[in-house]
Amino acid sequence: MRLTVNGVEHNVLSPPLTILLDVLRDELAVTSPKAGCLQGGCGACTVLVDGEPRRACLLPVAALEDAEISTVEGLGDADELSTVQAAFHEHYAAQCGFCTSGFLMATEALVARSDGDVEREEIIEALSGHICRCTGYVNIVEAIKAAAK
Ligand code: FES
Ligand code: FES
Repeated sequence: MRLTVNGVEHNVLSPPLTILLDVLRDELAVTSPKAGCLQGGCGACTVLVDGEPRRACLLPVAALEDAEISTVEGLGDADELSTVQAAFHEHYAAQCGFCTSGFLMATEALVARSDGDVEREEIIEALSGHICRCTGYVNIVEAIKAAAK
């Protein structure tokens, strides 16, 4: 089946019920989505599917034919960070970094649908399914507010 990741089309060989997270990490070497709880509860595996945040640990790849998958690898790079990446960097919003790619992708979607001003409550609701074990939530919220502006 075909899977488009960060604008590049791939012919996926994994069995159809393989979860997207395993296809990305093990077959396509796209390793920014992380395997945390593998039950939909932590957000570490979050990617965008047609612009919407989805848990890659819960999605069988067969359901994604012709979908557009976006991951951190499709954002900026070390020389030119995306707006959201730069805001996380400037606000010290990552510690160990395990949760960060999931937060970044969920923030990309939140910022894309905002009008430039995102309230704290809106951020907390949008990111409520994301767990940061380093508990860096204060800086993460500040980074998201900055990115939305
Ligand atoms: Fe997918 Fe935790 S690993 S939500
Ligand atoms: Fe370590 Fe969030 S930065 S889990």
